[in-house]
Amino acid sequence: MTQKDPIIFLNGHYQGLSNAKISVLDRGFLFGDGVYEVIPVYGGKPLRLIEHLRRLDQSLEGIRMVSPYTDSEWADIFNRLIVGPEDQSIYLQVTRGVAAKRDHAIPAKQISPTVFAMCTPISPIPIMGIKAITVDDIRWKRCDIKAITLLANVLLRQEAVDQGAVEAILIKDDRVIEGAASNIFAVIDGQLVTPPKSKEILPGVTRDLILELAPQAQIDAIERDMHVDELAKATEIWMTSSTREILAVIELDGKQVGNGKPGPVWNRMTSAYQDYKQSLRDAALLSR
Ligand code: PDD
Repeated sequence: MTQKDPIIFLNGHYQGLSNAKISVLDRGFLFGDGVYEVIPVYGGKPLRLIEHLRRLDQSLEGIRMVSPYTDSEWADIFNRLIVGPEDQSIYLQVTRGVAAKRDHAIPAKQISPTVFAMCTPISPIPIMGIKAITVDDIRWKRCDIKAITLLANVLLRQEAVDQGAVEAILIKDDRVIEGAASNIFAVIDGQLVTPPKSKEILPGVTRDLILELAPQAQIDAIERDMHVDELAKATEIWMTSSTREILAVIELDGKQVGNGKPGPVWNRMTSAYQDYKQSLRDAALLSR
C-alpha cells in the first residue's frame, strides 16, 4: 500500500502529504501542546476503535481540551484514509492550535485545534524476539496522557538503540513502569504480571486486550507492582503496543531471558491475539 503521496487529513481537508502544512505558531510545534493516538487497522477495520477514542478523550481532558469530532465523524475520517485490506495504522494528532503569539499559558480566547490524521503501513514485526535494556524513567508525572511531548521517550528509546536494543524498560523507585513506547509484561513464577494503571503509565489498548484474552489462552494474569529485581527471575518478558503487538524480550541488559527464545506463554498469547486480529479481518470481509 506504499503510495507516493498518501492522502492525509488536516483541519477538515484531505490532501497529499507532501503539500500538508501547519503554521510555525502552532502550539503543538512550539510547546508540544497536543495529544495523539495510534490505531492499528486490520482488513480495513480499526482495532478497538472505541477504546482508542475514549483514551483520546481522556488525554484531551488531561490537557483541558475536548474532542473536535464525534466517534462517527472520526470513523468517517479514518475510512477515507485507510487504503486496502493490508495491515496499517492510523496516526492522529490534535494540538491546541495556532495562537497569535508565543505564550506558555493557554490562550484566553478560544482557538481552533489543529487536527491531523494519516494512515501508514505497519512495519514487519520481529517475531524472533528482541533485546531490551533497563533505564531510569526520566519522564513527567502525567504519563497517562498520550502527549505529543515525547522528548524523554525519544532519548530513552535512543539509549536502547545505541546499545543495539529495540526497547528501553523504564524503572522508577526500583519499580518496572513501562517501555519507552510500550507496556511491559513478565512471566514470574508462572503468572503473567503487568504494572497496574496509574498516572505513571499509558493505559495501553494492547495491554487491556491481552488481559482480556488471557483467560481463554489459559493464562493466569495479574496487575500488580513489579520490582526491578523480579525481571532477573522472569522466565518471559514482553513489550506490547498497537504497532509492535506482543514482542518477546529475549535479552535484557545483555543477559538472556528464559531460554533466549520467545516462551510458551508468549506463544499462547500471540496465537490468541492473532486469532482476534483474524476475526476482525473475517468480519470486514463479510461486511463488504
Ligand atoms: N505508543 N506506553 C507508551 C509510553 C506508549 O507510547 C505506547 C504506544 C504504549 C502502548 O499503548 P498501545 O497498546 O495503546 O499502543 C504504552 C505508540 C504505539 C506510539 O507512540 O507510536
